[in-house]
Amino acid sequence: MKTVFSQRREKLKSIMRSSGLDVFVVTSNKDIYYYTGVSLPEEEAGLLLISSDRPRLFVSPLLAVKESVKGLQISAIQNARQIRNLIPKGRIGFDEYDMRYYLLKKLKKPGTKWIESAERIKEPRMVKDRGEIRMIKKAISLTSLALKGLEIYGNTEENIARRIEASFIENGGEKAFATIVASGKNSSMIHYTPANRVVKRRRPVIIDCGARYSGYCADISRTLCDSCGKKHRRVYEDVRSIQEEIIDHAKEGVKFSELQEIYEKEMKRLGYRVMHSFGHGVGLDVHERPYRSDILRKGMVITVEPGVYIKNSGGVRIEDMIVIRKGRPKILSENVRL
Ligand code: GLY
Ligand code: MN
Ligand code: MN
Repeated sequence: MKTVFSQRREKLKSIMRSSGLDVFVVTSNKDIYYYTGVSLPEEEAGLLLISSDRPRLFVSPLLAVKESVKGLQISAIQNARQIRNLIPKGRIGFDEYDMRYYLLKKLKKPGTKWIESAERIKEPRMVKDRGEIRMIKKAISLTSLALKGLEIYGNTEENIARRIEASFIENGGEKAFATIVASGKNSSMIHYTPANRVVKRRRPVIIDCGARYSGYCADISRTLCDSCGKKHRRVYEDVRSIQEEIIDHAKEGVKFSELQEIYEKEMKRLGYRVMHSFGHGVGLDVHERPYRSDILRKGMVITVEPGVYIKNSGGVRIEDMIVIRKGRPKILSENVRL
């Protein structure tokens, strides 16, 4: 019986053939996990060789991974020469974002042409299957749990961030990225690092966080603005309506960049400056495809995160995760509240 991983490798092979390539050298640990189910720690090197032969995975000799999983041969890496000898001649697709320069130099040999192929290698990851959606939902529910009953006012930004991340761990997850708690004027900084500053009422507080569960990430932002003044309340309502407008248009067949155009048009119409993209794909990486010219397909998971930042005053960002469908998308994070 075919496993989900062997099916994914088949898909990758067909991309390899249709791109006129003979081999894929997969080096990112997240891609290796996606195509084999073997989870390597971030700091450990691995290399997956996809060709017309049986796929081979090379891992550090110090790692106690099984010698083989169904349909996949696993070997300990001795040196680069051992791998170079096994790479067939021809056109070789590699991940230019991940491959170390010194390794590439060692693997090159006469008769091989190395072609930047990160986008091709990662393409199948864009559309999530049922199991992946389940993991993403679990990451979202851990995020929801961490935010529930959180004491915000009177606590410091740093302490709130620490509480959130501790909750992820206590409940079987970890943080997908460094938690942002930005209060008062600091909420006008997009990627702010929490400080030893007590959170006070009257100005917005942005919390942007996400758990990772079984490799899959959540990425959600909430802005607390219930005791804000009129000016920030108004911004909050505008951001909310811009988000709804984008979500209304997010469906199968629409170009990712079309959603960005809608975002920019709405921001301009309401008199705001566009400071970042409306969203991004999310899965094993917090930021991943789809983006730019990618066409939305059923099963893609993206964030929709409009943000308005008023210098020295305060900012509002509302970020939700949606799954693309034929009609209106499903908002996976709609029940996440502060
Ligand atoms: N938390 C990073 C982002 O929203 O993209
Ligand atoms: Mn995001
Ligand atoms: Mn975020």
